[in-house]
Amino acid sequence: MNQKEFVRRRKQLMRMMGHGGIAIMPAAPVKLRNRDVEHDYRQESDFHYLTGFPEPEAVLVLIPGRKQAEYILFCRERDPLRETWDGVRAGQDGAIADFGADDAFPIGDIDEILPGLIEQCERVYYTLGIHQEFDQQVVGWVQQLRSQVNRGTHTPQEFVALDHLLHDMRLYKSRAEISAMRKSARIAARAHERAISACRPGMYEYEIHADLIHEFKRHGSVPSYSPIVGSGPNSCVLHYNKNDRLMQDGDLLLVDAGCEVDCYASDITRTYPVNGRFSKEQREIYEVVLRAQHAAIDKVRPGNHWNDPHDAAVRAITAGLRDLGLLKGPLTKLIKDGAYSRFFMHRTGHWIGLDVHDVGDYKVGDEWRVLEPGMVLTIEPGIYIASGSKGVAKKWWNIGVRIEDDVLVTKDGHDVLSAGAVKEVAEIEKLMARPVKAA
Ligand code: GLY
Ligand code: MN
Ligand code: MN
Repeated sequence: MNQKEFVRRRKQLMRMMGHGGIAIMPAAPVKLRNRDVEHDYRQESDFHYLTGFPEPEAVLVLIPGRKQAEYILFCRERDPLRETWDGVRAGQDGAIADFGADDAFPIGDIDEILPGLIEQCERVYYTLGIHQEFDQQVVGWVQQLRSQVNRGTHTPQEFVALDHLLHDMRLYKSRAEISAMRKSARIAARAHERAISACRPGMYEYEIHADLIHEFKRHGSVPSYSPIVGSGPNSCVLHYNKNDRLMQDGDLLLVDAGCEVDCYASDITRTYPVNGRFSKEQREIYEVVLRAQHAAIDKVRPGNHWNDPHDAAVRAITAGLRDLGLLKGPLTKLIKDGAYSRFFMHRTGHWIGLDVHDVGDYKVGDEWRVLEPGMVLTIEPGIYIASGSKGVAKKWWNIGVRIEDDVLVTKDGHDVLSAGAVKEVAEIEKLMARPVKAA
C-alpha cells in the first residue's frame, strides 16, 4: 500500500488528538506455537494501520505539533549476525527512509527516551489491556515522572483510550483499502470455485482445505482465519476446523474460508453437495438461506441501520422454515419469540477489514449504527439442523447451510466484493457437473 495512505491516517489521528497529546502503540509480539517454533508473524492491525511497519519489537509514538519530530518509531537495530538467520530488518535508517518516520531510535533505548517525550504532554493516548507487559512499561514511565515531581518534572494528567478514535477511522474504508479488500475477496472467491470444482465423494475434507490454501498462496496471500471445511454432520458445527472427515455421497459441504491481501481480510462461505447435485431437502433449505441472503444484501445501503439486514434475514429464514413445516405458528409470533434461533443461532454479519471481525461500534448510544459509504460488512445467514434435532424429521438432519459474502456500502447501495464465487443452485451444479463416462 502506498506510503501516502499511512501518512494520511497518521495526520487524521493527530488532528483528532490535538496538541498536548502523545500516542503510544507497540507492535505485535512474536508468538510461540510450541517450544521454539514461532507462529507466522502478523502485525497488530492497529499498528499496521498507522505504520505499515511489518516487524516485531517496535513502538510507534505520535506527538502532534512537536517541531523536531511528530512521528517516532522505536525499532530493532540492524544486526548482520541476526539478519543472517532471520532476514533483513529496516533498522532506524529504514524506518525513516522507507516508513516515513520523522525520527527513529533503537528499541533498547526506549526507557531512556520515551519518559522525556511523555513529560512534554498532557494526555497519553494508549489502549490498555491488550499487551499486559507493555501496559506495565507505560504505567512505569508515567510513575517514574510522577516520582520526580519535586524535581519539577511534569506528568500528563489524562489517559485516553486510543482505540476509540482509531477504530472509528478504521470503520470507513478508503479507496486503497477497498481495492485491497476487493483483491482479497477475488482470490478467496477463486479458491472457493476451485474447491467446488474439485469436490467429490471419497475425498477428505483436508483435500479441499489444501485446494483453498493452494489458491491463496499462489496469489501471495495467506488465510485470514483457519478454514472451516465441514461435511455431513460437520456442516452443523459452527466453528469446526478439524477438517479430517472422509466426505460421502449425499453429504452437504460447508466451506468458510478467506484470505488476506496487505493484511485486509475476506471471509466467504459456500455450501454445496459433495456429489454435485442437491437432494430435495438440501435444496429446499439452501434456497431458504439464499433467499434470506439476497433479502439481507438488499438492505445494505446508506441510511439503513446495522440491524436492517439481520431483520430481513430473520424474516426470510423464519418464513422459509415455516413453509417447510420446520416451524409452526403465525409468522410474526415466531419472529417475535425468536423461534428461528434454534436453527439460525448467529447474527447475520460483522464488520470486516484488517480484522475478519473488524473493529467499529455496532451501536451509537442505544441506536443501531447507520450504514454509510465505505463501510464493509459480511452477510452470512445460515440454517443448521444437527443430527438428533428433537421434533425434526430425520430427512432434515445433517443439513448445515451458510452463505457468506463481503459487502461494501456504496453511495447508491452496495457492492458485493465476493460476487465472483457462484452461489445460485444451477451455477453450483453446473460447476460441479462431471463429464458423463461412456459405458
Ligand atoms: N469466518 C468467521 C465468520 O464467518 O465470522
Ligand atoms: Mn464472517
Ligand atoms: Mn466466515
